[in-house]
Amino acid sequence: MKTQRGGVITGWGIAVPDKILTNDDLSKTLDTNDAWITERTGIKERRIGGTTSGLGIEAGRAALAKAGRRPDEIDAVILATTTPDQIVPGTAATIQDGLGITGGAFDVNAACTGFVYALTVAHGLLAIGAERLLVIGCDTLSNITDWNERSVSILVGDGAGAVVIEAVDGPGQLLSWNIGADGSLRHLLKCDHGGFLYMDGKEIFRKAVRVVVDSASQAVAEAGLTMDQVDLLVPHQANLRIIDAACQRLGLPMEKAVVVIDRYGNTSSASIPLALVDALDTGRLTPGMNVLMTGFGGGMTWASTVLHWGG
Ligand code: ACO
Repeated sequence: MKTQRGGVITGWGIAVPDKILTNDDLSKTLDTNDAWITERTGIKERRIGGTTSGLGIEAGRAALAKAGRRPDEIDAVILATTTPDQIVPGTAATIQDGLGITGGAFDVNAACTGFVYALTVAHGLLAIGAERLLVIGCDTLSNITDWNERSVSILVGDGAGAVVIEAVDGPGQLLSWNIGADGSLRHLLKCDHGGFLYMDGKEIFRKAVRVVVDSASQAVAEAGLTMDQVDLLVPHQANLRIIDAACQRLGLPMEKAVVVIDRYGNTSSASIPLALVDALDTGRLTPGMNVLMTGFGGGMTWASTVLHWGG
C-alpha cells in the first residue's frame, strides 16, 4: 500500500430494531424448527423492522457521538446497502439530511460485501484529501423477503453498523485491501424489482468458502503478515458453518472469529460492522491488534481488509 494519508476509526455505533424474531416464532408459520436452523446456520434469533435510512441514521448518530464529532465535520456519508429505501435517491442522502451532515452522500451496493467495499472507498477518499467520513453498513432484508417461504426467511435480519474514519498523516490503520467480483455468478443471489430475495444456498455456500479464503489470504499477505499474526477475524455473518470452514482453511482458530449471527442472523451489509462493534464494545478488539475483515455476497462479490487497530 502506497499512501501518504491514511485513516483511523474514531467512532462506532449500531442500531437494530426492537422486535426479536426467534426460530421458534418462525416455526409457528413455516415448516421449520429451532434445531434445524441452529444446526445448519448458527442463527437463534434476528431483529426485524425499521427502514434502512432510519437504522442508518441511528447507527450514524451513535458513531458520531462516540467520535465526538459534529455532523458538519463530516465530508461524506458512504452507505453500504442492498436494500435502499427507494431506487432513487440513494438512501445515503436521506441519512445525510437526517443527521444534518453537510458533506456528500452516496450508496455502495456490493450486497453482503458492501461494508468492506465502502471502507476501501473511504480510504481512497482520505488519500485524496477528505478529512472525516461516516461509513455505514445497513440493510433491511426483511423488506425483500418472502415470509411464506422457508429457504431465505430463516436466514435474514435487519440492522446497521457505522464508523467514523478520520484522516491521519502516514499509513493509518489500513494495512491492506482486496476486492473482487465475478458477475457471471449474479444468478446465485438476486432480487428483481418488486420481487423477493432468491438464492441458491448450496452453491453460494460452496463458492463462499473458496472466495473468502482466497481474498483473506491475499489481504493478509499484502499486509505483510502471516495468518498467525491475525489477532481477530470479523467475517460476514451468513452461516456459522461458512465461518467455521473458512477458519479451518485459513488456519485460524475459531476463537479468533467474532460471531454475532446467533443474535442477528444475516444482516447483509450490516453484518461486519455489527460484529466489529460487538468486538469493540466487549473489549475483544484492543489497540495493537491486527483485525481481518472479510466478506462475500451477491454479485458474486468478495472483499477483505486488514487493519492494525489503534493506528
Ligand atoms: N427448515 C427445515 N428444513 C429445511 C429448511 C428449513 N428452513 N430448509 C431446507 N430444509 C430441508 C431441505 O428440504 C432438505 O431436506 P431433504 O434432505 O429431505 O431434501 C434438508 O433440509 C437440507 O437442505 P439443504 O438446502 O441441503 O440445506 P443446507 O445444509 O444446504 O443449508 C442453507 C441451507 C442454510 C441455506 C445453506 O445452504 C447456506 O447457508 N448457504 C449459504 C447462504 C448464504 O451464505 N447466502 C449468502 C448471503 S444470503 C443473503 O444475503 C440473504
